[in-house]
Amino acid sequence: MDAEIIKLVNVSKVYVSAGGVQTWALRGVNLVIRRGEFISIMGPSGHGKTTLLYMIGTLEKPTSGKVFIDGYDTTVMSDEELSRLRNKKIGFVFQQYNLINRMTVEENVELPLIKLGLPRSKRKELVEESLLKVGCELSWLKKRPIQLSGGQQQRVAIARALVANPQIILCDEPTGALDSKSAEVVLDILRKLNMLGHTIIMVTHDANVASIAKKILLIRDGNIVGEKII
Ligand SMILES: Nc1ncnc2c1ncn2[C@@H]1O[C@H](COP(=O)(O)OP(=O)(O)OP(=O)(O)O)[C@@H](O)[C@H]1O
Ligand SMILES: [Mg+2]
Repeated sequence: MDAEIIKLVNVSKVYVSAGGVQTWALRGVNLVIRRGEFISIMGPSGHGKTTLLYMIGTLEKPTSGKVFIDGYDTTVMSDEELSRLRNKKIGFVFQQYNLINRMTVEENVELPLIKLGLPRSKRKELVEESLLKVGCELSWLKKRPIQLSGGQQQRVAIARALVANPQIILCDEPTGALDSKSAEVVLDILRKLNMLGHTIIMVTHDANVASIAKKILLIRDGNIVGEKII
């Protein structure tokens, strides 16, 4: 069905340490996410939330099982094909912003566009449009990320995630490092992006934060054990 933008079939992920110790981070997860959904993933620390987001984002390959993005079986794609797919379809937002401090705000937000090979003038236009969409000021363009507050940096990080207009936005604890007021601003932005049609999947520890989604998935011991529709 083409409404299914993400599908995981029996996905397991086992990490093996240098000493040969196995950690089962995910144990046979099945999941379908439809276009335009807003989903939160909750669960205790170490139970597989980030791993699940990494599987969906194709940042890592599952040990077994399949991950389909927009109908493509990502488990048979080469690294180069995966990187192209990610660039086009997926934006990432992390707890610690993950901006590059030796680059300006403008250069950070521009990065996904350089990989897409767009000309400079078009890149500049899209960078400014993306920053303005999430309430950033154009006076920040030449600043370094560390010259901004945490909340401002997270908005820049969202602008970067958005700049190539990906259908899917994945967020890992996007408000985890923010005070409650900045967190509210970030959540408002995510709400707005979902209303514009982006599919959003957000990992969080915080039940209040999770409740802005339309559906909450509960993860325990590497499995999805429950679902709550809001
Ligand atoms: N790169 C890795 N190498 C080895 N083990 C890992 C790796 N990444 C995660 N794990 C292990 O996999 C399990 C799931 O980790 P994961 O990061 O998905 O948890 P989480 O639910 O996101 O936790 P938190 O809420 O603390 O962020 C944990 O036992 C963790 O130690
Ligand atoms: Mg995590």
